[in-house]
Amino acid sequence: MAAVDYLERIPNNVNLKADRRLLRALEEWHPKFLDWWTEMGPLGFQAREVYLRTAISVDAKGWAQFGYLRMPEYRWGIFLAEPEPGRAINFGDHQGQPAWQEVPGEHRGTLRRLIVTQGDTEPASVEQQRHLGRTCPSLYDLRNLFQVNVEEGRHLWAMVYLLDAYFGRDGREESEALLQRRSGDRDKPRILGAFNEPTPDWLSFYMFTYFTDRDGKYQLAALAESGFDPLSRTCRFMLTEEAHHMFVGETGIGRIVQRTCELMREHKTDDVRTFDGIDLRTLQRYLNFHYSVSLDLFGSEISTNAANFYTMGLKGRFEETKKDDDHRLKEATYVVTTLDGDRVVTREESALTTLNERLRDDYIADCARGVARWNESIKRHGIDVELTLPHRGFRRAIGSFAEVRVSPDGRIVSEAEWDARKHEWLPTEDDKAFVQNLMRPVVEGGKFANWIAPPARGINGQPIDFEYVRLA
Ligand SMILES: [Fe+2]
Ligand SMILES: [Fe+2]
Repeated sequence: MAAVDYLERIPNNVNLKADRRLLRALEEWHPKFLDWWTEMGPLGFQAREVYLRTAISVDAKGWAQFGYLRMPEYRWGIFLAEPEPGRAINFGDHQGQPAWQEVPGEHRGTLRRLIVTQGDTEPASVEQQRHLGRTCPSLYDLRNLFQVNVEEGRHLWAMVYLLDAYFGRDGREESEALLQRRSGDRDKPRILGAFNEPTPDWLSFYMFTYFTDRDGKYQLAALAESGFDPLSRTCRFMLTEEAHHMFVGETGIGRIVQRTCELMREHKTDDVRTFDGIDLRTLQRYLNFHYSVSLDLFGSEISTNAANFYTMGLKGRFEETKKDDDHRLKEATYVVTTLDGDRVVTREESALTTLNERLRDDYIADCARGVARWNESIKRHGIDVELTLPHRGFRRAIGSFAEVRVSPDGRIVSEAEWDARKHEWLPTEDDKAFVQNLMRPVVEGGKFANWIAPPARGINGQPIDFEYVRLA
């Protein structure tokens, strides 16, 4: 296990001080990052002490150290998972060759694009979430928001390290551009659609961390298989941080579900809005929205880009090395759900061009596990309602389903039916206004907003009423 060198201005386990050129590039970028953090990071609270965890080693189990610090003093740094001695490229045309320690010349442009696209999502989510602090449902939740924010900031550092260390001048230009795009900006938006959607309230935040950070998990897992070893090691360490973001989402929604059920039982009604709770139908509509936006992030069902990334050895499948096949897939097929005229059909296609869909399938199965846990909780309250994942074709903007209207239960519907029923399926203006109206800050130690239950336990063994953020 490699300890992180905190004596350096930029904590790292890549022996930065031995590489003057890289160190200079990062030292030039550092103040620009801090300017971006001040301008686009969390609004307010920057001078407050927050109980945050920081990486102190890259060992998957024991890397976190908890303590109070102000967010601008967070030790953003460069941490790579330990190298695997003798690691080879495990798939594609270069299968069996030693993993690349330098960028392979012929794949340079493609690799840079993959890194930039991943990197762009990291600051984007910080920008999307920057207003949430002022309406936090508790200090516990406020702290979790800031933990996610500083770690997304570190994920940006991780990608900028790769760009600066391995892509020379173009890499430095891309590093600058990552600080210049803005989520939702008309002229210089973030690269991917979901990262330009606002996150206006805490319900959206939990949905985002459940569904959209989980897309991040699958993209990082696929890049962690990369034949370009520095990318693989970088992504492997990022995944350890990502787990907490999804935990925040899953338990956040779980706690809302719990509170809603309590209010339903207490007042013997489905309509808990009167009692400042979020009704299950509204939860379902938010779920439908965030799930469909996140499904689009995987790209089209049929994609020659995806095939090329794989064949080139740049981006693998989820758990590539655990799969028992030839890892070249030239002859293999994969069954995808797609459209045939106005019918939803399944069809066997080349395994290579359908790699996006395969990753989406892994993601969908993972999403379903959390939904099942929320449903267990609803059932335990004796309530006969289930939350469901809508059909994969529902409200898609990318891929074959983008051409049609699909209902949550997977029927192709007319424009007229869609218009008549979309208010049942997607958050309405009224839903958004209602949820927004519930967003009133609760900052008293151990207190929680009425629409969300307290967590089962605190962070790092601390009590629930711990002072997670020092407001005075
Ligand atoms: Fe991230
Ligand atoms: Fe994340």
